[in-house]
Amino acid sequence: MTQGRTEAAAWVVVGAPFAVLLYNLASGDYDASPWRFAIRDTGIWALRWTTVAVLVSPFVTLTGLRAIEPARRALGLGAALYGFAHLWFWTRQYAFDWAFLFDEIQRLFLLLGLGTTLLMMPLAATSNDFARRKLGMALWRRIHLLVYPAAGAAWFHFALSIRLGRIELYAHALGLLIALGDRARRMLSKPPVRRA
Ligand code: HEM
Repeated sequence: MTQGRTEAAAWVVVGAPFAVLLYNLASGDYDASPWRFAIRDTGIWALRWTTVAVLVSPFVTLTGLRAIEPARRALGLGAALYGFAHLWFWTRQYAFDWAFLFDEIQRLFLLLGLGTTLLMMPLAATSNDFARRKLGMALWRRIHLLVYPAAGAAWFHFALSIRLGRIELYAHALGLLIALGDRARRMLSKPPVRRA
């Protein structure tokens, strides 16, 4: 598969849960509290795609399957778009009552969500080829290390919002630890830059 096709296929997969959500909203399946369901669905998929995105590198390290690397942009940008939609549904749930939302967001659990969203903004804004060329690979890579604190903050936000019995919480923690371990190993194994 060419790079473009791999990325296009990844976009289809990443977008599928959103299509299901829109279908459920339109068909009245979420009638009881549609915004609450929309918040839950977009939040969980934002986190799932974030975890899968950070696992692409360790997976390539392990398998040598570099062909899946172009999927990373769809996964990462898709995660950010789910995160932004999640925030939008939350503001929509409270009918954009900004004074109330401002009071609410000072709770630790929501502050962590806000922190994640803010960290995702530069990642989403620089996910295109133009930004990559303009910034240069070294700076672009440094900016994209923000995905790790973003994934960590998203995890804590998730942990504080649910009952700790949910197995998925631990699966994300394991995924994130594997990704961080792989990143640390690659950073440490890089030869030091020699100065003239
Ligand atoms: C300002 C930004 C954010 C706000 C205000 C916010 C708000 C919320 C709220 C109110 C819930 C509880 C939903 C419920 O219990 O019915 C929730 C759950 C959740 N949020 Fe966020 N969130 C934000 C950002 C994020 C981001 C960026 C992510 C992931 C990258 C995320 C991931 C999640 C997850 C995984 C859940 C749990 C969903 C579930 O119960 O399965 N949130 N969020």
